[in-house]
This record gives sequence, structure tokens and C-alpha cells, in this order.
Amino acid sequence: MTQVATDVMEKVVSLAKRRGFVFPSSEIYGGLGSTWDYGPLGVLLKNNVKQAWLRSVVQCRNDMVAMDAAILMHPDAWRASGHIDTFHDPLVDCKATKQRYRADHLVEQMVRDIQANGRSVLVRKGSESWASAFVEGLNDQPIEALLKDRARAVEIFSHMQSPAGGELTEPRNFNLMFKTFLGPVEDSAAVVYLRPETAQGIFVNFKNVQIASRKKPPFGIAQIGKSFRNEITPGNFTFRTREFEQMEVEYFCSEDDASQWFEHWLDYRYQWYLDLGIKPTALRRREHASDELAHYARGCVDFEYRFPFGWSELEGVANRSDYDLKQHQNLSGKDLRYFDEESKAAWLPHVIEPSAGADRATLAFLVDAYDEESDNKGEVRVVLRLHPMLAPYKVAILPLSKKAELTGPARALYTQLAQHWPVEYDETQSIGKRYRRQDEIGTPFCVTLDFDSLVDHCVTVRERDSMSQVRLSVNELLPWLRERLQWPGVQAITGAIF
Ligand code: GAP
Repeated sequence: MTQVATDVMEKVVSLAKRRGFVFPSSEIYGGLGSTWDYGPLGVLLKNNVKQAWLRSVVQCRNDMVAMDAAILMHPDAWRASGHIDTFHDPLVDCKATKQRYRADHLVEQMVRDIQANGRSVLVRKGSESWASAFVEGLNDQPIEALLKDRARAVEIFSHMQSPAGGELTEPRNFNLMFKTFLGPVEDSAAVVYLRPETAQGIFVNFKNVQIASRKKPPFGIAQIGKSFRNEITPGNFTFRTREFEQMEVEYFCSEDDASQWFEHWLDYRYQWYLDLGIKPTALRRREHASDELAHYARGCVDFEYRFPFGWSELEGVANRSDYDLKQHQNLSGKDLRYFDEESKAAWLPHVIEPSAGADRATLAFLVDAYDEESDNKGEVRVVLRLHPMLAPYKVAILPLSKKAELTGPARALYTQLAQHWPVEYDETQSIGKRYRRQDEIGTPFCVTLDFDSLVDHCVTVRERDSMSQVRLSVNELLPWLRERLQWPGVQAITGAIF
């Protein structure tokens, strides 16, 4: 990370804590590694992100419905999905310090070091020429895919050492699912898992939802909910945590139409980030190489955001074929095919899956919105240029004096506007300080009442980004704000849906 980037991340983390977006979890006990609590403003912001997603993928589409599955599922669901056998990360241990590392991350670090400096502390003495040849021969091959070849992985780690200089063990697989027990007996028959993705809750309910909602493919099911992964290296604030929220769509269609729907969802989801203000230069698509794809996937594209710590995955859009429904059908013995009454044909739909993280999206919106600018006195104004619909508070009511003749009408105005949006009321300190406080949390509009307001029944509205001010009659205020506090229009969906 460059110095500037580190600064931005540090400033966002500090602002998040100071203003009540995100706190370290269990802080009074020293915290619990990489777990975070959302505070008053964080709840509002993240809820807005989730609402924006639901609005776009469910409310504005006739081909989508929502559901909310339980976090605990029958263990066979994870057997069928492949998570029990294959949902793991490769780990190596330092024999000297007993510290544990993600094998692929260590190799990636070594490659980065050698590319930048021609050497790395992770290379064992005597293996320098092996390391140079290894890096030269990589040809952009993803390390994760390379380590799937056991013999190759063992060879690589025989040439490497830990950051502390200790000998490393051979890589071993570590399952990322959290286990717990159902009921009072803690034996193997009672083991259940905290779901590592929300997707499987949708697949096992495919038939229930399809029949109850009378939807025919192509149609999709959307779900927002907590997922849990015992990540080896969580970090970068809320970017990678062990408990996080996902926003997933499983879209069911025929095999023939799958490529078309894949392209549709790629465009539709990409546009969502742009419509909500993400800078186009900070968002990109990355197509998975064929050796990076899960064995069942026909294609996968990640949306990556340029976080201060580098380009990193925000959302993945995958063509999952009919793998999941087929697996659940085989293990459960239940017919999960869609039965078409008209043609009397029964078939297993293919699935397109746009899978996003609510916490990652929230972090991206926060980082993207963070800005600093100098005012004419040389003072720095920190401003969160959030899309108005994502901003925690839409309006702040600021009476220019604490005298009751002003605070009375100001509070009445607060009560009126709070019926429509989250609104903040603040009568403490100078108006300049109060504007700065609202800028820092992204409030798009500040409404001030002064003594003239008592005579002309007008208020002054100040806009966050331009700092321009306009004097409005109190009666005009509500429609004026309504016009400016609108969700972005959703891309028209044409074709096969209706
Ligand atoms: N059902 C497919 C699936 O779960 P994934 O790429 O593993 O795919 C989808 O996860 C999204 O969930 C990611 O793009 C990311 O936004 C979010 N996510 C995954 N692991 C996460 C973690 N440890 N912390 C925060 N968000 C995570």
C-alpha cells in the first residue's frame, strides 16, 4: 500500500469509529480478531445499501422474488454442495514459531517481492535461482490454481521459509466452515455448520419458492443474510471478516439461455454500483481464467474495486450450470426439476449467480465517498460524498440559536421531516462546526432556521457537495427535498421476462 492509500484507509477507519459507523467488536475486552460492530450511522448506511440492492434486484423486476433461509441447514446440504469436501484453504505452519499462514498468500508475497526487488525473505538459502526461474515461468498463472497440484505445492514449499525464517510444513487443507452442535449432546451426530454462503438456502428451496410464487424460469430468488467463514487471514477492516453479510441472487433459466442471462446480470449489477455513485475508474471486471474456475462453473467474472489496499473482489457473477440443483436432487432423492405444464416437459434449470457482500459494498461506498478539500481559510473540509439515498441522514435541522422561539419551530420541522427520512437535529456549537459535522457523515442537505424564518416562514437549505445555499418557503421544503432524494432509475429490463 502506498503512503497516501494507507492514510485514506486509516482516515476512513478512524472516521468510522469516531462518528459511529463501525466499532471494533468487544472492544472493552481487547477486541476479537477482525470482528466489527456497526454503530448508529453504520446501521443506517448498510441498511440503505441492502435496500438499494433489494429494490434493484427484486422490487423493480417482475422476474425476481425474495426469501430468507435459516443459517443452520441440514448437514447433507453441505455434503451435496461440496463444501464439506472442498471448501478449504491451503495452510502452512512455521515449525519455529508455530504461526500459521495461507499458503497461496505466502507464495503471492514471494512473487511480489521478487518482481519488485529481485529477492524475498521467503526464499530459503540456496533456492534463489529456483525462485527466479519459478517467478519467470509463472505466465500470470493464478497461485491458487497452481497449489491444487499437490506435488507442485510440496516442491514450492520445500524452497520457501516463513517470514520469521523458520522451516515450513507441507501445505494442508483447512475447512473454512464453522461447526457447532444441534441440541445438548456434543457428539459427531449433532454437528451442524454455520452457513458459509446464503446460496444453498435458495437452492434447497427452489421447488418451494417456484410453486408458491407461480414463477416460471427464467426467474430468480434473492436473499440477504449472514454467512460465516473461519478465514485464516481476515483483515483490511470490514473487507474480509469471519462473519459477514451476503446479498445473493440465484437466477434459474434454461441451458440455452444461460449465456444471455449471464451477460445480462453482469451489466445489470455493474451498473448498480455506478448508479449509486462508485467512480467508474475505481471499478473493473476480471474474468476468471479457466484453471481458476470451480469445477462446475461455466464462467465467472469478478467486479473489483480499487480499495486503498489494492484492487480486490467486490462481487462475483458466476454461471453455475445445473450443478447445485443436480447435487441436491441426487443426495435428497427429491425431484427438483421444473415441470412445464404447457409442454409437459420436466427439466433442471441452469443458474446464474450474482453474489455480493453487503459489508464489502458498504466499505467500497464509504471509501469511494471519502474526500478532503481545503476551504478559503486553508482549513480542511472532510466530506463523505455519498449518494443521497445511501447517506445515513438525508437532512439535518440546524436552528441558528438555542432560543426557544427558534428551537420550537425547528423541532416541529424535525418531527415533520422525520416521518419521511432519517433526519438529524443539532443545536450545539457554531453553524460552521455543525455544517462540518454533517459533511463528515455525508448528510446531503442542512436546513437552517434563523430569526427571519419567524417572519418570512422561509428556511435556508445548504447542499453538501457544492455548499451552495438556497432560501425556500417552509411549505416548499418537503417537495423540494423529495425531488432530490430519489433512488436512481433502474435499467430497463426487456425481452424474455414478460
Ligand atoms: N455463493 C457464491 C459465493 O459465496 P464468494 O465469492 O465466496 O461466492 C461472494 O462470495 C461475495 O461475498 C464476495 O464477492 C464478497 O463480497 C463476500 N464475501 C466473501 N467472503 C467474505 C468475507 N470473508 N468477508 C466479507 N465479505 C465476504
